[in-house]
Amino acid sequence: MTINNSDDLISTLVANGYAIIDQALPNYEITKLRNEAISIKKIGLMRRAGTGKNPNPESLSLFRGDFTYWLDADNETSYLHYMKNLRVLLNQTLFSGLFDFETHFSIYPVGAGYCKHLDQLQPNNNESNSSGQRKISTILYLNENWQANDGGQLRLYLDSELGSSNYIDIEPVGGRMVVFLSNHFWHEVLPAKQERMSLTGWFRTR
Ligand code: OGA
Ligand code: MN
Repeated sequence: MTINNSDDLISTLVANGYAIIDQALPNYEITKLRNEAISIKKIGLMRRAGTGKNPNPESLSLFRGDFTYWLDADNETSYLHYMKNLRVLLNQTLFSGLFDFETHFSIYPVGAGYCKHLDQLQPNNNESNSSGQRKISTILYLNENWQANDGGQLRLYLDSELGSSNYIDIEPVGGRMVVFLSNHFWHEVLPAKQERMSLTGWFRTR
């Protein structure tokens, strides 16, 4: 089930621990963000994503194939404004201690994915901007004309156990945003037949 406004987002998140919101931002904003990601890639600023301190580069590429670019979360863009409003809403309803938001662009080349994982990190992990604890994960998709047979689904496991086979597959359709509790949901990114673009973010506590 997908929803289209922030009030529903909060109630769905409370009920299920995750929510999928379509057209979170207007199309022209998604296009702007997609073009920004493409420019950042073109000028060579995207970096191979890290998944921990001193990862083994060979095993890393099997685990996670995306390229990332961290944003300055203080910028006054529509995206960051939207996320700031969402944080205020979450603070009023679910978590009172969300004090920060960190976010990066991700580009998955054709065939790349991200193996099953939890968005929880060890302290001093160099993948995160700070040591704050991630509470809520958000992913905003930037893909244009994504087709059902392009792959690239976000597979979200609905039980908190690692071995669970109860999952839903979410297509990375442009403008769609997925929000879930970071410590509860194992998830993975299936390989895609097209380059796959997104903005991943986390609300953190101190
Ligand atoms: C992540 C992640 C999922 C997606 O960046 O940690 O799980 O659908 N992304 O891009
Ligand atoms: Mn993740």
